[in-house]
Amino acid sequence: MSTLITNIGELVTHERTGDGAVAWAALSDAAIVIDDGVVAWTGPASLAPAADDAVEAAGNAVLPGFVDSHAHLVFAGERGAEFAARMAGLPYSAGGIRSTVAATRAASDVDLGANLRRLAAEMLAQGITTFECKSGYGLTVADEERSVRLAAQVTPEVTYLGAHVVAPEFSGDASGYVDLVCGPMLAACAPHAKWVDVFCEDGAFGADEARAVLAAGRAAGLRPRVHANQLGYGPGVAVAVEAQAASADHCTYLTDADIDALAASRTVATLLPGVEFSTRQPYPDARRLLDAGVTVAVATDCNPGSCFTSSMPFCIALAVRDMRMTTQEAVLAATAGGARALGRDDVGHLGVGARADLIMLDAPSHAYLAYRPGVPLTAAVWRAGVRVAGPASAS
Ligand code: NIG
Ligand code: FE
Repeated sequence: MSTLITNIGELVTHERTGDGAVAWAALSDAAIVIDDGVVAWTGPASLAPAADDAVEAAGNAVLPGFVDSHAHLVFAGERGAEFAARMAGLPYSAGGIRSTVAATRAASDVDLGANLRRLAAEMLAQGITTFECKSGYGLTVADEERSVRLAAQVTPEVTYLGAHVVAPEFSGDASGYVDLVCGPMLAACAPHAKWVDVFCEDGAFGADEARAVLAAGRAAGLRPRVHANQLGYGPGVAVAVEAQAASADHCTYLTDADIDALAASRTVATLLPGVEFSTRQPYPDARRLLDAGVTVAVATDCNPGSCFTSSMPFCIALAVRDMRMTTQEAVLAATAGGARALGRDDVGHLGVGARADLIMLDAPSHAYLAYRPGVPLTAAVWRAGVRVAGPASAS
């Protein structure tokens, strides 16, 4: 079954430029044919081939589905009061994670799964067609195992984050907890996960602890990614680059050496501007990273503490307005950048053969995602060629 979407005002395809890199590319007055779940053809609307079904885009923009490479969706409870207190002047601290750990441990599998699915549905309705999902609010062998097991029911991009903070039972015995994370907890979680992550930060884990977690994860077949330099300067980015991590996430406090290290590596800098919005921290210096040639991803970091948004359009608007990314850079980072951070070349672009994950906006160009902040512009979403959100028929 093939579908032609035609009269597209702006079709954002992106193009591969070799060595895994993807650059911005777009066509105007365009069409796309999707067939058997993949992109079969893109080009000028006037040259479009026939298909089984036709959808009229009426001049609206079509983009690759967003790729959210950083989210924490397996949790119970909420921390609205903590957010309100921050807005009244209190700082964000990693310690808040423990209140979500208590609520998560107390929740049933059914309730955890329902919350996870509700958030995944929110993401999809706003155009996120691929997302990563971390554990990290269980912090016991059984609770981390069920977190990655539940996550694996909704996405293949599952990350084991037993090293989120030291579990309360191990207070004063961080090395005992790291042994658990690298031993029995990893053994229970690795079968359900693809990635291993560690929160390398004061108040969480130091450089040597992070190295140990990443090395153990790698030995169990998981690929590394790192929460790095979120709350202050520190070794996170250096540890990520040294471990050849797919991404160093947050990158809020970077030295020149951190930027040089990222630029000389294949590690993606994943920026999470919703966190700075929700914690009143300074935004990462996206311009310095981009100008140094670092591959940048923008992701939501959807979690109940530092940033409770499931909206990639909101993050794009922040990236443009507050991190001074161009509208093209922000959309590229939220699509191809996220795909690179997840080691995926089948999503994040609309080249022929790519998975047919796409969004139709109720707007003529991608720029409206930042130009009309807060407005629900995602009119329709296709995932693997199947329309999964939006009106029953746009044709
Ligand atoms: O990415 N930094 C660590 N983890 C999350 C926050 C988790 C929380 O506050 O519950 C983050 O910001
Ligand atoms: Fe995070």
